Amino acid sequence: MLKDKNIIVGVTAGIAAYKAVDIVSKLKKQNANVEVIMTKNATKFVSPLTFQTLALNPVYVDMFKEPRNFDVEHISLAEKADAFLIAPATANIIGKIANGIGDDMLTTTIMATKSKVVFAPAMNTNMYLNPIVQKNIDYLKELGYEFIKPGVGMLACQTYGPGRMAEPMDIVEYMINNFYNKDLIGQKIIVTAGPTIEPLDPVRYVTNHSSGKMGYKIAKEAEKRGAEVVLITGPTNLDPPMGVKVIRVETTREMFNAVEEEFNQCQVLIKAAAPLDYRPEIVSDVKIKKKDGDKDELNIKYIRNPDIVAHFGKSKKEQIVVGFAAETNNLIEHAKAKLINKNLDFIVANDISKDGAGFKTDTNLVTIIDSNGKTKAYPILDKSEVAKIIIDKIKDLINIKS
Ligand code: PMT
Repeated sequence: MLKDKNIIVGVTAGIAAYKAVDIVSKLKKQNANVEVIMTKNATKFVSPLTFQTLALNPVYVDMFKEPRNFDVEHISLAEKADAFLIAPATANIIGKIANGIGDDMLTTTIMATKSKVVFAPAMNTNMYLNPIVQKNIDYLKELGYEFIKPGVGMLACQTYGPGRMAEPMDIVEYMINNFYNKDLIGQKIIVTAGPTIEPLDPVRYVTNHSSGKMGYKIAKEAEKRGAEVVLITGPTNLDPPMGVKVIRVETTREMFNAVEEEFNQCQVLIKAAAPLDYRPEIVSDVKIKKKDGDKDELNIKYIRNPDIVAHFGKSKKEQIVVGFAAETNNLIEHAKAKLINKNLDFIVANDISKDGAGFKTDTNLVTIIDSNGKTKAYPILDKSEVAKIIIDKIKDLINIKS
């Protein structure tokens, strides 16, 4: 994704400078051309040689050192930048840029660039929450500078709170995101993911094997392409993608209500979740106790849950509604029946009897069936690639509708 992109990484003086080493390494793995500018104080935390070795480019610190190129270096770097990342960004660099100060190689290059500039702040919690720093951040945001919110946690200064630089992987993903084709701007997309759970008593519940991986990958792909994404998710162990609105639910009825809340304002609903079709008719409010004896049995009566995708497929107006079908046998026949009965625009059928497909895996084996019955089978692919195929198909349908 970053092949031949010129990413300038500015490193300022914070303990998180060691994480910038990982960021540079990860950007290189994405085939970016990475050039690093360090402030003088940053070199006290990490040696320029470390960055030079990873970036395979000279590291810039001093503006007045013998130039390596004939060009004025801060201007040539500013001009060649496809994107600029400041990580870690201290209160000092944020304050300087907000006030138009250019007094070293890094600040002058930032002042001279027309490329996107992204700050990944890292500092003590009190510094971060200081109204002066917050005012500088707000002002820079107004001017179009971007910020990757720091995380909350125990900081090197032994305080707990916001100020810990975002994780290198998240920062790199944010940078990759910049270069995505934002072809879904203006579209609101609801994605449902994961299982639902239905309680039996205060300690027991019924659920299924859905991990949420498929739905989360779809949400991520749609967000990268510029859509406003609402991820309605059952319980999973996954971190939701950055930039999406997350609504957490447990039961199928809660999932139904959450979709209903958002549906009228959306253009697309993708039902990748595996909601339970049935729930116990009676939920005991005390723990169900076993009785003595081998003949003891527990009989639970299950009643139907609402079929969410069928409800919205049938009541949709202009929306595109996409369903999934998880099948162990007669894949195409069952999936086609669901496509018609639930009035879907297309259905993604997974053959969950095959290795590497369906629940929990990182890959999936899908066949997509259109509303006109046309089918296309795909080989085993990573779920992120399946997500891309689904979002491309939705984009085609949006184009046809408009
Ligand atoms: O989460 P992962 O571990 O990554 O696994 C991915 C997956 C296998 C869960 C996913 O790819 C998938 O197939 N999701 C649908 C699973 C399912 O419930 O299939 P179904 O054939 O029972 O349902 C058909 C469609 O109706 C689905 O879009 C489902 O979301 C929807 N449905 C089902 C029941 C219900 N009460 N309401 C619904 O909206």
